[in-house]
Amino acid sequence: MAKVFVTRPIPEAGINLLKSKGFEIVVNEAAADRVATKEELIAGAAGADAILSVLTDNIDADVIAAGLPALKIVANFAVGYDNVDVKTAKEKNIFVTNTPGVLTETVAEHTFGLLMAISRRIPEGDKFARAGKYTAWGPKLLLGTDMAGKTLGIIGLGRIGSRVAHFAIRALEMKVIYTDTKPNPEFEKEYGAVFAPTVDALLPQADFVSIHVPMLESTRHLMNEARFKLMKKSAYLINTARGPIVDELALAAALKNGTIKGAAIDVFEFEPKISPELIALDNIVMTPHTASASEETRDKMAIMAATNIIEVLEGRNPPNPVQ
Ligand code: GLV
Repeated sequence: MAKVFVTRPIPEAGINLLKSKGFEIVVNEAAADRVATKEELIAGAAGADAILSVLTDNIDADVIAAGLPALKIVANFAVGYDNVDVKTAKEKNIFVTNTPGVLTETVAEHTFGLLMAISRRIPEGDKFARAGKYTAWGPKLLLGTDMAGKTLGIIGLGRIGSRVAHFAIRALEMKVIYTDTKPNPEFEKEYGAVFAPTVDALLPQADFVSIHVPMLESTRHLMNEARFKLMKKSAYLINTARGPIVDELALAAALKNGTIKGAAIDVFEFEPKISPELIALDNIVMTPHTASASEETRDKMAIMAATNIIEVLEGRNPPNPVQ
């Protein structure tokens, strides 16, 4: 019987689908509320035909080697797959799959929520109200920034970036400027968005900058001290992509020194650790990597990861290979 190792408990929808195919399912229940250890990953991979991994797992060459010779697929429960050593997997003829598409709307909604939360100071207001500080309405109390008519800069106009742009343009009549490896003339025609050839060209023009590129060596610290200086002093940064794309200490300094006005981030350079320099600031809103965390979407991600495994274990190609 084929064995599937699930590195951390995922929604039942995915587990039940795998069970319905008669596979042996081993779920690493010990890691329900924490990251799976390397030892657990290696022990679980041994003898497994498939690994269903999550983004906190470092599926490196050691884990892959532990799964040989049975291992045929690493199905990552995420759209990002920078946690998997895809090169080694490919060399060993092991499929790596991800969960594209099903989380686009949810992540875009969360991104938009962060945009609104920071520009209208919603968490700050909540904290203020709960602390019993609301003693009088004030003409200057907690003044925020309007979004309508302002320019949103999108770095990476993929599925999620373009959905965020759609919300901004259609809901708030914002202007959108975007940068990517190449322009998207259809998108420009439909939305009036404007292409910037480089990140450096985009930053000085944007009132809000939202990051939607994958984590690659070429995108590590894409936002750094020099790039924060290119932003408007009145601008905000939003990051729902991957933490290390932003130099976190440079961000904390930029927020502290007034180089930029605020930031809203869902991902952290050293997560789950959050730099104390960020925690100390009021002009940042943070969520714990929950941009795709809706019940509906997590079910869909579980089903998609399980489906990739089923296809491979039944001898077909997976629908969502990353290679
Ligand atoms: C979440 O961060 C994902 O990549 O799915």
